Amino acid sequence: MKILVTGGLGYIGSHTCVELLQEGHDVVVLDNLSNSKEEVKDKIKKITGKEVKLYLGDMINEILLDEIFTKEKIDAVIDFAAYKAVGESVKKPVEYYTNNISTVLVLLKVMKKHNVKKLVFSSSATVYGNPEHVPIKETDKTGGTTNPYGTSKLFVEQILKDLYASDNTWDIAILRYFNPIGAHKSGLIGEEPNGIPANLMPYITKVANKELECLSVFGNDYKTKDGTGVRDYIHVVDLAKGHIKALEKLEKEKQGLYIYNLGTGIGYSVLDIINAFEKVNKVKVNYKIVDRRPGDIAECYSDPSKAKEELGWEATLTIEDMCRDAYNFVKNKMIS
Ligand code: NAD
Ligand code: UD1
Repeated sequence: MKILVTGGLGYIGSHTCVELLQEGHDVVVLDNLSNSKEEVKDKIKKITGKEVKLYLGDMINEILLDEIFTKEKIDAVIDFAAYKAVGESVKKPVEYYTNNISTVLVLLKVMKKHNVKKLVFSSSATVYGNPEHVPIKETDKTGGTTNPYGTSKLFVEQILKDLYASDNTWDIAILRYFNPIGAHKSGLIGEEPNGIPANLMPYITKVANKELECLSVFGNDYKTKDGTGVRDYIHVVDLAKGHIKALEKLEKEKQGLYIYNLGTGIGYSVLDIINAFEKVNKVKVNYKIVDRRPGDIAECYSDPSKAKEELGWEATLTIEDMCRDAYNFVKNKMIS
């Protein structure tokens, strides 16, 4: 198939491009480089020996999208293009709602015009808000998001449901990612946040690398096994492979709207991650316990059984793989 990957030079997008190319698909990328670098295109080629066709531009640009669909004969779209920083979304709600919702509306309009109705959409476990119980199933309650980023994902999910209700010839997979970490084992692509990282693994790699002094562990008084927050960390390569399986499902079923959790189903605490990271990389991670981060929840992990049953997908890489590959990418970046 020929797949349009929006945001394909970003963290999850680039890993998904690699898997798509290795599976023999043709890949067209649209990216505005708002949170990525053009050189990622060359890294993808280095890993796969194959090229993606790159359009530099913004997904809000209907004329550009129309041109891409006219020229490229796209079969399906994977939409990664969005802003994703929770804290920033609180300060810039209009920018977040525009970039995470308005762009999708433009995309859907152009897809409809060109009769391309297969879409895989990047959603997030954040749509479950503060979950009533764990592990979380796809049928569990959504809502109660506490920031514009989370709300933007919830709104797009609703838009896609409304779209499908209006026209059931669409073929849509909504993928709710848990906590993607790690990097490609080549060390060529990975997560490169700007400035001081807000998320756990990028912060740990910078402390291990002596770029930052000390990790603040946000609270050790949660009702969890060691008091620190528990999450479902998933290797980004496993996550990327989930997109291939979702595309195969859309190809097979021809029409439908499907929602899948993509996680491992295992909850690890912050201290588990620090310990695994230190052990596998033989490096010390300085940390101190500080107050809880406002808005954080105690535990969030998936029940990934629906994806296993319906997509034949399950995560195979371990927490040690995630810690090793995340650090390998950072070390590799320093020497390259
Ligand atoms: P990322 O920021 O690394 O990648 C997003 C890419 O989209 C970047 O290359 C950016 O330049 C591009 N982009 C943003 N707005 C654009 C626009 N208007 N037009 C064209 N390109 C645009 O983020 P990521 O971690 O790879 O996340 C990908 C998707 O997955 C996002 O939708 C994100 O919300 C979602 N998601 C991510 C996580 C996570 O922890 N990384 C978790 C859940 C969901
Ligand atoms: C964050 C986002 C969430 C998004 C998810 C996907 C926030 C508030 N939420 O979730 O919307 O879907 O990423 O990746 O940003 N921690 C520390 N010290 C740190 C950083 C984190 O102790 O410096 C702890 C947190 O308290 C939490 C765990 O590590 O228990 C994971 O945090 P993080 O990586 O930020 O992810 P989430 O908060 O789960």
